[in-house]
Amino acid sequence: MELPHHEDVSPGTGSLPPRAWYATSDAATLSLNGPWRFRLSPTADTEDDTFAAAGYDCGAWDEIAVPGHWVLQGHGAPRYTNMLYPFPLDPPRVPTENPTGDHLRTFDLPDGWPRDGAAVLRFDGVESCARVWLNGTELGDFKGSRLPHEFAVGELLRPAGNVLAVRVHQWSAGSYLEDQDQWWLPGIFRDVTLLHRPEGCARDFFVHAAYDHRTGTGTLRVDSDVQGHVTVAELGIDAATGEEVAAAVEPWTAETPRLYDATLATPGERVALRVGFRTVALEDGTIKVNGRTLLFRGVNRHEFHPETGRTVDLETMRADVLLMKRHNINAVRTSHYPPHPAFLDLCDELGLWVIDECDLETHGFGAVGWRANPADDARWTPALLDRAARMVERDKNHPSVVLWSLGNECGTGRGLTAMADWIRARDDSRLLHYEGDRSCADTDVYSRMYADHAEVERIGRGEDDGPDKRRRLPFLLCEYAHAMGNGPGGLSEYQQLFETYDRLQGGFVWEWIDHGIAHPAYEYAYGGDFGEELHDGNFVCDGLVFPDRTPSPGLVEYKKVIEPVRIEGDGPSGTVAISNLHDFADLSHLVFTWSYEKDGTTVAEGALTVPPVGPGERAEVDLPSPPRRDPDAETQWTVRAALAEDTAWAAKGHVVAWAQLPVEYGMILPVPGGATPTKDADGRRITLGAASFDARTGALLALHDREITGLRLDVWRAPTDNDNGMPWRPEPSVAARWRALGLHRMQHRVEAVEPTGEGLTVRTRVAPAASDLALRTEYHWASDGSKLLLRMSVTPEGDWSVPLPRIGIRFGLPGAAGRVRWFGGGPGEAYPDTAAASLIGVWESDVDALQTPYVRPQENGARAAVRWAEVGGLRVESDGAPAFTARRWTTEQLDAARHRTDLTPGDTVWVNLDIDRHGIGTQSCGPGVLPQYELPAGPRPSSLSCIFSLTDG
Ligand code: GAL
Repeated sequence: MELPHHEDVSPGTGSLPPRAWYATSDAATLSLNGPWRFRLSPTADTEDDTFAAAGYDCGAWDEIAVPGHWVLQGHGAPRYTNMLYPFPLDPPRVPTENPTGDHLRTFDLPDGWPRDGAAVLRFDGVESCARVWLNGTELGDFKGSRLPHEFAVGELLRPAGNVLAVRVHQWSAGSYLEDQDQWWLPGIFRDVTLLHRPEGCARDFFVHAAYDHRTGTGTLRVDSDVQGHVTVAELGIDAATGEEVAAAVEPWTAETPRLYDATLATPGERVALRVGFRTVALEDGTIKVNGRTLLFRGVNRHEFHPETGRTVDLETMRADVLLMKRHNINAVRTSHYPPHPAFLDLCDELGLWVIDECDLETHGFGAVGWRANPADDARWTPALLDRAARMVERDKNHPSVVLWSLGNECGTGRGLTAMADWIRARDDSRLLHYEGDRSCADTDVYSRMYADHAEVERIGRGEDDGPDKRRRLPFLLCEYAHAMGNGPGGLSEYQQLFETYDRLQGGFVWEWIDHGIAHPAYEYAYGGDFGEELHDGNFVCDGLVFPDRTPSPGLVEYKKVIEPVRIEGDGPSGTVAISNLHDFADLSHLVFTWSYEKDGTTVAEGALTVPPVGPGERAEVDLPSPPRRDPDAETQWTVRAALAEDTAWAAKGHVVAWAQLPVEYGMILPVPGGATPTKDADGRRITLGAASFDARTGALLALHDREITGLRLDVWRAPTDNDNGMPWRPEPSVAARWRALGLHRMQHRVEAVEPTGEGLTVRTRVAPAASDLALRTEYHWASDGSKLLLRMSVTPEGDWSVPLPRIGIRFGLPGAAGRVRWFGGGPGEAYPDTAAASLIGVWESDVDALQTPYVRPQENGARAAVRWAEVGGLRVESDGAPAFTARRWTTEQLDAARHRTDLTPGDTVWVNLDIDRHGIGTQSCGPGVLPQYELPAGPRPSSLSCIFSLTDG
């Protein structure tokens, strides 16, 4: 049976062979972006297919923005699934219910559009299958959503009144090859352009620009279908195409993205090129560029914008690259398809290593044991090869692209091998990546996702088993540190491994951005919010930046962990070691400064002279003699490395790396005492200094006139996505174990309220229903008449095999909105295994600004190692440096919320002071909390001491 074009496994008909993409030439172009007329039909075989004919009356149609997705413009709705196809596995057939968008626009050729030569019409991206007509003549059809397709249109063009018609089907045979974990978003989502093709214009060309690091020589050869000349004025190069020339050059690297302006001139066209000289090689078991082994500090980037989906404008692309550079990221994997081509121009210009990944994923076949997987079915191989060729041909002239990736999660198969063979034959100047093939038969790098620290260490040591070839290959984590919600935890420990073993060439955090879609009721929508029958919830919100591209604490942590300069030292002796972890750059672009802080406030600062330190080298320097010592104060050095001059990606003064070196930890809590408890006449209240307690329950009621409510032991946190773990894993997540035990509904039984000579002791037993496990909790209160001291001790009873979420106190401050000041870690949140970026200082914030706006609400916002905090007129000090959280809703409300809009601020500020917390880990997709960051309930008791007083104001 002959299938309709959209269900045919072939990549399409009628389009021109793929070729290099370039933005700047002297040939005329006409953007066809803008408002188009639009009609949505529920099925592919919509009755009215006459719309492409001249004179069709589309008066009743809607208008839609191109580029754009119709489901984000009021027609239908987005759907989100991770690996499951939202339609039956019936390849290559797709559902009869197949939303089909007819797009129509008319255009005139601008004045001066050349009359000679030809023209092509280029589509940079259409999901998932398009059929195109110009002036009533069918040009062809294509699949391959995130790849370019061009059609020759010269003869058909008219000076005015051209009618361009495009029918787009949401589902097609191509959808089986595009099962990436993301929203399904149909439409013409990238640019549509008409390009004049003058007689003698350049067609395809391949810039080969290599660098010999031994001699400092660059070699350049531009192969071009149409013969011409290449000039590089700065290098005095003027060569014929096909001719190889050499010159002394500065190489291109992601750290030093040196580009040379060049021109390719063919008889009919001048194309502006930006040439970067660099050589990629697999040598000594590592990936080298220009002779040096790389360390990827990478991130996986999907194209996403909360309003426009995968239609991403140029400013947003630039914003992504700038944000990455400013956070020390040096590499991008274009998961899981070639990005808009302009993004790669930015990577060339600003400097990022790129793994360019093909638009290919068939993950959902895993659900049926990989039966009928297109990656291993010869009928699909032409489509796979077409995708490989469209990626390589389009992107081959970017120095930033150092590895090609065959795709993501396609199992294994002949089609992938065919792609690899084709790519190697076409471009032997780059290496090949594909994570899915554990044999590494077709690839140059052993790549994995989410391997835990212990396994990565074994691989680093070369103690892994597996095929011989693989054991000789470099290793990278193409995905790790799943940045879903609060986290990822454990980054520092991965980085230590990467920096220890040469074979480990770093990794790419999953992923760059939360794909939350702007929504009137929810702020940001995730899977299920559009009524999808099958969906994967908020698994689509797992980025280092929020949907609006505000950095999440995870990005701030990552920046710190991957600093390309490591500053270490010893505070008391004032010596500092500076290690240059760049692969190419020396440190002359940085200036170093020191400051000396007393109780979090800078009392002296100055410049730190650091001798030249080449890549991979280390130098030791001395700090000046510290200002007068003050044993009563907490003192520390802060050393920073900042940009010496403005760069293309950040301004002078931008801090690249820092460290704090403690000198003296001076805080010893003065213990208030002296006041004795007295009972009210009616026996209902106990007064201790300025504090009053409920005589029956022992509950603290107020300090002076500051009402305090509900102060007691707290062990619960609103589970994070990482606490909730991976839904598809059989073993229960830590959050499931917490809930099964009832840690979210602990009951507090007061055993005794005992006034003593020194104060007040309240003994309680805190336990979940239906269990004989308990936490014996004692509160010892003392006062000097004004201040109030609490010493709480918690002794576990029974065999606690489940770690606790937290251990500390919670209390409410009615009517306490407003500011918070604290001395401790900041400015952002930090948990035991996400605390690298927490800087000790005195910080100030609004209560509301302390909240981290995770798209799905969960535990957040804790500041670590807080020596004192002031909120709502109350001051709390503790020498245990607990974590501090303040919010205008309870943990229970936070736990119940699905979206941020479910959280309504109440008039009580709830404060938590945690003596200890369970770590974060990355079990939403990957390993859980490392043992050293777990919080066992026992066997030893825990204790917290803090002093409450009122602030002056
Ligand atoms: C990987 C996959 C990604 C994403 C991630 C989890 O398996 O390659 O596309 O699904 O897991 O967020």
